[in-house]
Amino acid sequence: MSYMPVNGSLVGRVLASDLFTKNGILLLPQDTVITATHVHILQKQSIWEVEVQDVWTEGTGEDISSQLVEMTADASAVAVYVEALDKTREIFEQTFQDVKPRLEQFSEIFCDVAGHALKQKGLFRSLYFLEGADSYTYRHSLNVGILCSLIASLLKWDEDRVSFMGTAGFLHDLGKMRIPKEILLKPGKLSEEEFAIMRQHTVYGYEMIRTMEGGSEELALCALLHHERLDGSGYPQQRKGDDIPIECQVLAVADMFDAICSDRVYKDRTSPFEAAQHLWKEACNGTLNIEIVAQFVRYIALLYVGAKARLSTGEEVEVILINQDEPMRPLVRRSGEFLDLRLERKLTIEKMIG
Ligand SMILES: [Fe+2]
Repeated sequence: MSYMPVNGSLVGRVLASDLFTKNGILLLPQDTVITATHVHILQKQSIWEVEVQDVWTEGTGEDISSQLVEMTADASAVAVYVEALDKTREIFEQTFQDVKPRLEQFSEIFCDVAGHALKQKGLFRSLYFLEGADSYTYRHSLNVGILCSLIASLLKWDEDRVSFMGTAGFLHDLGKMRIPKEILLKPGKLSEEEFAIMRQHTVYGYEMIRTMEGGSEELALCALLHHERLDGSGYPQQRKGDDIPIECQVLAVADMFDAICSDRVYKDRTSPFEAAQHLWKEACNGTLNIEIVAQFVRYIALLYVGAKARLSTGEEVEVILINQDEPMRPLVRRSGEFLDLRLERKLTIEKMIG
């Protein structure tokens, strides 16, 4: 193991340990073969020295270059995401200042990252490998924006509505900026009183977006109603069924999925398959729109074909085939043998690992 400066001489060397941004987000995992794009990303993150293994990469030129193409695609998209995250933190914090940001400024940050995420499955998949809970609200906002535009495209909504949904998702929790940090970041369960304060983020968000330059009532309503549930069990207005605009029903699905999948202050992240199972249960219980959940779950599951996962037994498996009737219980390969998770009901996919 040795330390090397971050410059062109690093290309082709292998990382000796995981590399994190200053916000604690995993930038490059251990064993990454460094490319020129990686060097650029590291420099942008002001990382000037890294620990590398004392071996050069093995394998044929062909297999290395195909690996590199794949990694470069992911790494550059991750860089866009990390940059958008920094800008999100900045602009969300500006909502407290005298000159408040305009809607346009939010959309600019979001559009770039959404374009990358929707085009590159790699980025989408790696959203849920990123680690660290400290920037949860900002990551959650970006992710929910991406998920909302994804669902809108799955529902075949037109381009304007897809982009509206992206912005609505990106801004849905803006009101949380007005919630005291000790409640927002509290590890463990909130008391009844604290939860009542937390619920106010929907109303705060509504007011902030409605009065923002370029904001609209329709967009503000998405922030107000994203915690409403079809059976009337949500908040703040306990609306039921069709009284909840379809846009807010989409937001509810995206919001719940990302919240379950992400690292948070008080819990470890769950695998997208488990999260999908949870959404399905909610839809069957009548709280979420079942058609939206069905389309979304099928798409998410397909995205993870070929990915490695850890089962509840701790064993490592590869996702091989998605079953049409139950996408969240795929066929997986466990060291040479195939397991149909539809038949192995006690097993669950606990974590995605690569
Ligand atoms: Fe929320």
